[in-house]
Amino acid sequence: MKNISLRLLVVAFATLLTGSPVSAKTKNPGIVPIPVTMTWHEGSFPLNSQTEFLIPGDTKANWEMADVIFGKCWSTLGYEPHVSFRSMSDKPAVYFLLSEVRDETLGNEGYQLEVSPQKIKIIANKPAGLFYGMQSLLQLIPPSTGLAAILDSTRQIPSVSIVDYPRFPWRGLMLDVSRHFFTIQEVKQYIDQMVKYKFNIFHWHLSDDQGWRVEIKSLPKLTEIGAWRVPRKGMWWSFDPPGENEKATEGGFYTQDQIRDVVKYAADRHVTILPEIDVPGHSLAMIASYPELSSTGKQYPVNPGSKFYGIDDNSLCPGKEVVFEVLDKVFTEMAQLFPGDYIHIGGDECNKSFWKTSPECQALMKREKIADLNELQSWFIKRLEKILISKGKKMIGWDEILEGGLAPEATVMSWRGMDGGIQAAKMGHQVVMTPTSNCYLDLYQGDPANEPATYSMLRLSDVYNFEPVPANVNPNLILGGQGNLWTESVATLRHAEYMTWPRGLALAEVLWSPAALRHWDGFVSRMEDQFDRFDRDHVNYSISAYDPIITMISDNGKSKISIRTEIKGLGVHYSFDESFPDQYYPHYFTPIDVPKGATRIRAVSVRDGKKIGKPISIDLKELSKRSK
Ligand code: ACM
Repeated sequence: MKNISLRLLVVAFATLLTGSPVSAKTKNPGIVPIPVTMTWHEGSFPLNSQTEFLIPGDTKANWEMADVIFGKCWSTLGYEPHVSFRSMSDKPAVYFLLSEVRDETLGNEGYQLEVSPQKIKIIANKPAGLFYGMQSLLQLIPPSTGLAAILDSTRQIPSVSIVDYPRFPWRGLMLDVSRHFFTIQEVKQYIDQMVKYKFNIFHWHLSDDQGWRVEIKSLPKLTEIGAWRVPRKGMWWSFDPPGENEKATEGGFYTQDQIRDVVKYAADRHVTILPEIDVPGHSLAMIASYPELSSTGKQYPVNPGSKFYGIDDNSLCPGKEVVFEVLDKVFTEMAQLFPGDYIHIGGDECNKSFWKTSPECQALMKREKIADLNELQSWFIKRLEKILISKGKKMIGWDEILEGGLAPEATVMSWRGMDGGIQAAKMGHQVVMTPTSNCYLDLYQGDPANEPATYSMLRLSDVYNFEPVPANVNPNLILGGQGNLWTESVATLRHAEYMTWPRGLALAEVLWSPAALRHWDGFVSRMEDQFDRFDRDHVNYSISAYDPIITMISDNGKSKISIRTEIKGLGVHYSFDESFPDQYYPHYFTPIDVPKGATRIRAVSVRDGKKIGKPISIDLKELSKRSK
């Protein structure tokens, strides 16, 4: 009895110090994305608020680097780190060192991280490598809560040797800020989260049918009109169109000063912003501002998420010279705002039906001997590429830009599967792979009965199984890949986080780590370490990967229910009697008959005798419909 209470006391005290019971700390912390090589050693480094973080050289460049490296680590450490700009300490310390002789293996983004009981050393060729080394170090620190900081506890960092560098130079996430507007602060928060997992491209989808988001000083109506729509809440695509005299009060845009601020914020964190202006389709917000840009010239409102495709003319008219004059102005200002090499011009899903009846398009096709509407779009895109090149930028577009002939220097972002990317690479063009089958973060990650409404399914394991380099293409032309978060059904940053994490973790590993190191069970365990960090940092994430996956199958003509889980080692318990199952309900082993009269199955996953994930409830009629 006495022993038990003593043990309880020890656990309680350890919990107070570290925020978690001692028994939870039985394995080494997992890093996502998994490093190229990682060797654990005996012993650990004692990290506490006295530990010095040393960057040799009291220079402005080092102060700025320290600001970025240490700026956001308060939440991990629980205190302001003690940073010094000197090269030596006689106490255990953390050293950040830029190599004097370049290590070719590490390249521009790689790093070496050595943890021993006496010191921690991060070595890199470039500041980006030091930054990424710090992200890995932060993941080695047990994710204790703020209490630990108040009590000034020492946390043990396990001794380890890491050598790490990325597989791909393009590791992107896209956020659509047109369908729903996200503030500058929210965009910065999103960038903060992505850099923890070593993403380096932020693709900013700045225009679409539902909102224009970037101030163009020479075209003020784009933001006076195009940035605003009537407010609607609920199910996207089912909203009422704007009522007569209804005020457009929802939306927003970024001023050029705000954009410059975000560009610098991202660059400081080694992220390049890829801005997208989506043309010639998806242009209703632009056309609402300047109706003369479409073939019909009709005045439309900015779409609020109601059905309009094929009804409203949302495409710029290639036959009108004014379109190129306007695009020249747009891209002149964009090129000045965004220092990255590329500008994304969209090019996807263009409704060309109004081009058919446009006298200007027909005259242009005759004059230029353009055979069909695909070639007409290609002519438009090629002209756009010339505009971009004249501004010192390279053009990238969705894979529809292949149709009718690819512009001479274009890079292709392959989204309708991998085929567009393969075709482009075979023509010698560079490619970024973002197939819907593996990279669309707006899609369901669990059963639709349990998730916010969206289009189709993209489970965590589908992302983890993504291989960006197809067989038989020159791998050097595959720059990398990217997760795309379209926000038709995503109205808040909390929801954007839910859709991004943990699928973004899976993608980070695909894009950074060697393919040979990919291992689902190992990833799941390391992902769960990040869940503790998301909780600590108040980042929303989905636990849908634990949920039961329920299907109706046919067994010799008889309908049965089959259940599985994405994550191994879980049990599933179920009910057909409308009550909520727990770990004591029937345990699923093999396909089960549907009891007579049952209308609904409920199920829950269980691990180590405890419920995990979200309970699920599915109408059997719905299941039967799906099976057909
Ligand atoms: C796209 O998803 N329309 C690129």
